[in-house]
Amino acid sequence: MAKLTKETIGVGFLGAGDISVLHAAAVKKCPGAKLVGLWNRNQERATQRAGEFDCKNYKTPEELIKDPAIDAVFVLTNLETHLEYTKLALNHDKHVLVEKPVGVSVAEIEQMKATADAKGLVCMPGHNYVYEGGMVRTRELVAGGDLGKIVSAYVMYNIHHPEEVAKRYPGVVRQILTHHSYILLYLVGKPVELCAMKATLHYQEYPEEDIAMVQMRLHNGALAHFCASFAADDHAADPWTVMVKVIGTAGSTRYSYRDHVEIKPGLVHSQTYTAYQGSITNEVRHFLIDCLRMGEKPLSTLEDAVTAQKMIEACEESIRNRSVVKL
Ligand SMILES: NC(=O)c1ccc[n+]([C@@H]2O[C@H](COP(=O)([O-])OP(=O)(O)OC[C@H]3O[C@@H](n4cnc5c(N)ncnc54)[C@H](O)[C@@H]3O)[C@@H](O)[C@H]2O)c1
Repeated sequence: MAKLTKETIGVGFLGAGDISVLHAAAVKKCPGAKLVGLWNRNQERATQRAGEFDCKNYKTPEELIKDPAIDAVFVLTNLETHLEYTKLALNHDKHVLVEKPVGVSVAEIEQMKATADAKGLVCMPGHNYVYEGGMVRTRELVAGGDLGKIVSAYVMYNIHHPEEVAKRYPGVVRQILTHHSYILLYLVGKPVELCAMKATLHYQEYPEEDIAMVQMRLHNGALAHFCASFAADDHAADPWTVMVKVIGTAGSTRYSYRDHVEIKPGLVHSQTYTAYQGSITNEVRHFLIDCLRMGEKPLSTLEDAVTAQKMIEACEESIRNRSVVKL
């Protein structure tokens, strides 16, 4: 892939909702990159965010993606529009970072991959958790055999989301288990079979699930477990706010959102989990500097996004049919 040699890499945002705040802070911290401008469907929000981020406010997505000052587009809109905006940007020769879940279906993600490959452009999924130092070290330990034979892996998430916030997203199967899926793929690899359950426990009107759990058998015979909950925070000692564990016969690892907490609200969270911004800062730097500037292959790939989406669809099938689903 051609490397970007311009002094400053120009970034444009399609969508300026909550997650754009973390991406804007990440671009600001990235040497040799600048947020040139944004487009948002709602003009009031667009004006507010363009002021906060000190960047242009484009009137249409087309105006943004045609601006030669922009080299990379971040697709930060709702899931249902990711394919449309990702293709629009790629077809105008812009590299793309697309938020997770990447697409509504496997076919959508495959279309993005085909377009990016045909154009020789980078299209990287926003799989932010794999950009955390603790995750990278765990993967190295697993891959190097330092943990011995892997026997189990756990990804747990318990962060209360008010119903009005949850309503902007799909249920936790798609919205949160997507994170769990790509984390598992990154750390220990694919499951061969799984079974899932879900429930709706605190929403008054929103019909989607606010908690889901999954049991899996991995390719090497180990077992794995996911929990994703918007239903309640975990306030107990050593809480499972976001907790990842890999246990092997010769050692084990733990990653926790609670390792660094700032006592101030963070977007929709009651506290600020420092790792959230940190993971997005690392992800954005990897995309802009390692991949676009230096020509490296992205750590998070559309192939992983396709496999993660297959895992999500298997969870949905398992829930629908109350069955164990093979992958
Ligand atoms: N990586 C993470 O940890 C993480 C966390 C939260 C959200 N996300 C993802 O980021 C994306 C945005 O989430 P958010 O939290 O900023 O949500 P949000 O509701 O705050 O913002 C959504 C944005 O999409 C726009 N939008 C909605 N419908 C649209 C349409 N039909 N056409 C064009 N624009 C439309 C809205 O105007 C808004 O700018 C989603 O894909 C979400 O899954 C990722």
